[in-house]
Amino acid sequence: MNRKEQIKEAYRSLGKANSVYDRMMTGSGLIGKAIDRIVWCMNGEDLLEYQARGLEAIPKDFSGDLLEVPVGTGVLSIPFFKTLPDAKITCLDYSEQMMKKAEQRAQEQGIKNISFMQGDVGSLPFEDESFDAVISLNGFHAFPDKEAAYDEIFRVLKKNGIFTGCFYVKGENRHTDRIIKNVYMKLGFFTPPFETVGSLKERLKGMYEEVDVSNVKSIVCFACRRKKI
Ligand SMILES: C[S@@+](CC[C@H](N)C(=O)[O-])C[C@H]1O[C@@H](n2cnc3c(N)ncnc32)[C@H](O)[C@@H]1O
Repeated sequence: MNRKEQIKEAYRSLGKANSVYDRMMTGSGLIGKAIDRIVWCMNGEDLLEYQARGLEAIPKDFSGDLLEVPVGTGVLSIPFFKTLPDAKITCLDYSEQMMKKAEQRAQEQGIKNISFMQGDVGSLPFEDESFDAVISLNGFHAFPDKEAAYDEIFRVLKKNGIFTGCFYVKGENRHTDRIIKNVYMKLGFFTPPFETVGSLKERLKGMYEEVDVSNVKSIVCFACRRKKI
């Protein structure tokens, strides 16, 4: 099995057991809270803080073309998309299993301005400069070819478009770093190399403007704009 297939397989199982995954992402229930504390040293406030920072660059009245990659089960983004009735939203993920949950969630919430597509962030099936905004929550620590992912997101973003999101960075918490290395990487959920807060800042400053990078424990949150010219 190649690396992409291994990752797809790992997230297929999470899609099935999505209640545990979703609880972890939202810090709800005993299991969710325990994982967040043990792995991430985070409480509910930390979770809400990083998730809010990952999305706050999108204006409240956003009405353009928006890509989310990867959507996963949509546990974080679908409730947010409900607040953007005038946007044209496209969600993409490598795992059909995870994405099926996101589709169900969007249907349950009555969101109509949204479509879903299975695909690879390293080879996005869109024309250059197609989107006014790209959101990527908790994706870059999973993507197998991160350079291709950065390049592709840049390519499909319109000039002056917003790129925002969050993901795991190494070097902020030794305990979290050890669990990522010894458990998450072995299970196929996370794939090195991992950014640090500093390396991400430098990378984004080299590609974008209005770069804002901050972290909540081992999760980095970022927002930037593609240059106008
Ligand atoms: C940790 S989940 C994050 C999902 C969601 N954004 C969230 O915050 O809950 C990582 C997701 O990345 C997806 N993924 C991994 N490699 C990918 C690739 N090459 N292209 C698209 N999605 C990919 C996985 O299928 C999985 O759904």
